[in-house]
Amino acid sequence: MKADPVRVGILISGRGSNMASLVKASEAPDSPYRVVRVLSNVEDAGGLAIAAVAGIPTWAKSHKGMPRAEFDALLDAELRAADVELIALAGYMRLLSPEFIAGWQGRILNIHPSLLPLYKGLDTHARAIAAGDAEAGCSVHVVTPELDDGPVVAQARVPVLPGDTPDTLAERVLGQEHALYARALADYARSLR
Ligand code: GRF
Repeated sequence: MKADPVRVGILISGRGSNMASLVKASEAPDSPYRVVRVLSNVEDAGGLAIAAVAGIPTWAKSHKGMPRAEFDALLDAELRAADVELIALAGYMRLLSPEFIAGWQGRILNIHPSLLPLYKGLDTHARAIAAGDAEAGCSVHVVTPELDDGPVVAQARVPVLPGDTPDTLAERVLGQEHALYARALADYARSLR
């Protein structure tokens, strides 16, 4: 018998292009996952409207003025109420508390715009250009308490071209992110069944 699709919750903070790509891929009849909630710590994140148009329930609340653990407990409650089994961070620009991560061990994926372990944190494209790297790329990894540090499950590479700026390189990498994340999330979802 075919297993039910894994119930995925996606966390965003911004425009949500990776989220949109994950949602689109999940609409294929044989997708091993289904996006059941999109949550944001930014109330006017652009991605929320995209999710709503796709018919996915959204939840958004600003984290400002709240202790991290308290905000993450709200996120946790929303995800559990929706019977989420797997979380995908997609441009979620906020560290998750150790308590939250402990409650979802091996159940949170993130996409990071560098060839990890290179360039954890911000400004990855500028750092790759400044280092004179011939290649850049993106990585999907399992989230652990250390920033951008958990086991890498998939990577894609692009060349760094002469004259690249952080913006032109980011755009080239982003094209790869969309395809890579959809594939990696599907593979990971399959591994949970
Ligand atoms: C992506 O480059 C992602 O790798 C990084 O933040 C950006 C989010 O873009 N973590 P989007 O919101 O998915 O369009």
